[in-house]
Amino acid sequence: MRLELQEVSIRHGAIAAVLGVSLTVESGTVAAILGANGAGKSTIMRGIAGLVPLHAGRILIDGRAIENLPTEQRIRDGIALSPEGRRLFPEMSVHDNLVCGAYLRRDQTGVRADLDKVYALFPRLAERRNSLGRNLSGGEQQMAAIGRAVMARPRLLLLDEPSLGLAPAVIHVMANAIRRIAATGVTVLLVEQNSHLALSLSKTGHVLESGRLVRSAPAAELLADADLKRAYLGDDPLALESLAASPPPV
Ligand SMILES: Nc1ncnc2c1ncn2[C@@H]1O[C@H](COP(=O)(O)OP(=O)(O)O)[C@@H](O)[C@H]1O
Ligand SMILES: [Mg+2]
Repeated sequence: MRLELQEVSIRHGAIAAVLGVSLTVESGTVAAILGANGAGKSTIMRGIAGLVPLHAGRILIDGRAIENLPTEQRIRDGIALSPEGRRLFPEMSVHDNLVCGAYLRRDQTGVRADLDKVYALFPRLAERRNSLGRNLSGGEQQMAAIGRAVMARPRLLLLDEPSLGLAPAVIHVMANAIRRIAATGVTVLLVEQNSHLALSLSKTGHVLESGRLVRSAPAAELLADADLKRAYLGDDPLALESLAASPPPV
């Protein structure tokens, strides 16, 4: 599914969180939005999912405007969000959390098949299927949050900070899962502060600063860019490992 944002602005009361952002994610590709904490990344994702209204601009999927549709309709149209902070139902099992992702679907056979696919994608979740959300590790919660979004059978998957606070080994599991989801033809828009990781998964990268898009370029170009490297990626080529090993920002 092709996603296009046209001059999108989003306000939180008096705060202009997103200002005139235009970008396109081609169907079947992975794109990343990079930027510091507070840049407006999550606000854009929530705007696409219909969880916050636009102040101005348009959002098109396959050329059709959706910015005035309610969230449920956007889910039906194939948009699913794995939100920042995972937000599982803490008193529900992994299995029930996953099935919740399919709450708008009526094809029970397809839902059961997709559940098996999620467990194949994340074998750890199959082992933990009867555990309550609140008893999962951070990595397991993130797997379940992505799995729940996949259960909606999206054509556009929005992933907000899938690597945040996770250990390197778990980040590898996450990265491989995202590659496998993308290989099925799902369009993926990824938000990350871990720029190395995001760009290594993406075809295109978009850099957000204080709500404005300051750069859009092929991921390889951004990875090689010296200025960007200083600003966002750090000087250490192994920054992915060190970033991943550092504690999550509070
Ligand atoms: N619900 C909210 N109410 C008020 N301000 C918010 C809300 N959510 C985010 N903001 C503000 O909007 C800006 C962008 O936030 P956010 O989209 O969460 O950034 P990011 O995801 O890039 O860290 C920040 O200044 C943040 O403080
Ligand atoms: Mg955020």
